[in-house]
Amino acid sequence: MDNHSQLTKAEGDFLKRAASEGGKADVEYLKNALQENLVGIKRIAGGLIRHGLVEPGQEIAKLTNEGFKVAQHGLPERNVADLLFERGGRILLADLSFKSPISKQDVSVATGWLRKKQWASIVKGAQGPEIMLPGESPPLGFDERTLQHLLKVHELPAASIDENVLAQLLERKLVVVDGESPTQYVLTAMGLAKGNELLNIQVDGHEALGQITPEILANWKFRPDNLKKIRPFDFAVPVAVPSPGKPHPLTHIITEIRQIFWGMGFTEIAGDYVESAHWNMDALFIPQDHPARDMQDTFYLAEPASIPVPKADLERVAAVHQTGGTTGSTGWGGRFDDAVSQKALLRTHTTNTTIRHLAAHPKEPLKAFGLGRVFRKETMDATHLPEFTQIEGIVTEPGATFDTLVGLCRHFFARMGFPEVRFRPAYFPYTEPSMEIDVFYNGRWMELGGCGIFRPEVTKPLGVRDNVVAWGFGLERLAMMRLGLKDIRDLYVSDIDWLRTAPLR
Ligand code: PHE
Repeated sequence: MDNHSQLTKAEGDFLKRAASEGGKADVEYLKNALQENLVGIKRIAGGLIRHGLVEPGQEIAKLTNEGFKVAQHGLPERNVADLLFERGGRILLADLSFKSPISKQDVSVATGWLRKKQWASIVKGAQGPEIMLPGESPPLGFDERTLQHLLKVHELPAASIDENVLAQLLERKLVVVDGESPTQYVLTAMGLAKGNELLNIQVDGHEALGQITPEILANWKFRPDNLKKIRPFDFAVPVAVPSPGKPHPLTHIITEIRQIFWGMGFTEIAGDYVESAHWNMDALFIPQDHPARDMQDTFYLAEPASIPVPKADLERVAAVHQTGGTTGSTGWGGRFDDAVSQKALLRTHTTNTTIRHLAAHPKEPLKAFGLGRVFRKETMDATHLPEFTQIEGIVTEPGATFDTLVGLCRHFFARMGFPEVRFRPAYFPYTEPSMEIDVFYNGRWMELGGCGIFRPEVTKPLGVRDNVVAWGFGLERLAMMRLGLKDIRDLYVSDIDWLRTAPLR
């Protein structure tokens, strides 16, 4: 193993790392451990493969058709050099092109390489430029020997070829490399022995143990002297950063949100994406000519184009819209259109789920929340998505008031890490009072959702007696702030580096 004293520090480190991993090491691990990029690791491994210390990988070098010809007949620069030598070391360039057995095309390739390899130079002659070879045709280069070797053995592990030579042959299209780039390197028996030898550095003049095997343990004598023989850990060594499986950051935040509501005794509710205008809008006392109901803002469906709503529901809601019914309101007036109410759409908010839940349980105190996807015809930008998720909920019980609502919202956002919350007066057709909620983040207020107390037009016809406090927040904006993202779209781009490094709080 004498020739291995020639190993570079990086090669030695590579061997030690791979040996301490049991003789195999992943490329990713080596990149971290040796602080090298992929090309660097390949270069180091290439040297070790040529020393017989690392198993050659799966990348195979073969001759191309052109390479096969050249391997048989010689590189153009070789043929020109030979000819030059035969003819006394100097030939007129023009003669070389037109009065020689070498093709014009090969001459131009050859002159380039003759100069690059510094075999020959172009000099001024009496009749024009001449090409001049001082002395003999030079000895075979590594590239030529590799070609000849390939002619005999047909294939070679790519890593067994000097990387500069390989790069040149690839560039000249004389050789191709097939097979996958290695993801792991395996030491040969000799490499493993060498790696272990390097690991067992001297401590206090003793050969120190880098790795404890079952055999060593079986024969171990508990003596202070023996303890000294164990190589101490080096905590300063860079190690591979593990990237174990973990939930998507958004999934993690969703879990956290659910735990907050579950912890407060809330029931979780969910509904369908496809909904009738009735439950998405009419039951919420959104007038049938409200601008948000427009095709511009809402995705209406062609299939199904409508969803039947039971007559009793249509009549109850129609009465409220037209005259206020028994709610004490005057309603919106005009004529309520059953067809408009039964149009099918993609829900624009999750309040459809809330109102359905309320309609199904009108007489009970309720604490319910839901997380659901909603759809709006929004132009996508850094803070808007046409599909997003709402965090929705209601509380109804005797004594539920405005304070209940404000307290709940403050509590929720504080638990999510946003203690500074601002309420602004706002308008929703279904709540009174209505508020918009902003959260202070990164020096500015960010709008996160709406809330309010459902109007009697919404609750009374269902037979609900107590106040119903309700809210709907945007999940993605919340997540964006929690994760420190500048662009909301980044949440749905599966950037592997971000996914690996995004902290799960
Ligand atoms: N549905 C409203 C929205 O989509 C939010 C909201 C829910 C407002 C409940 C008041 C009450 O923005």
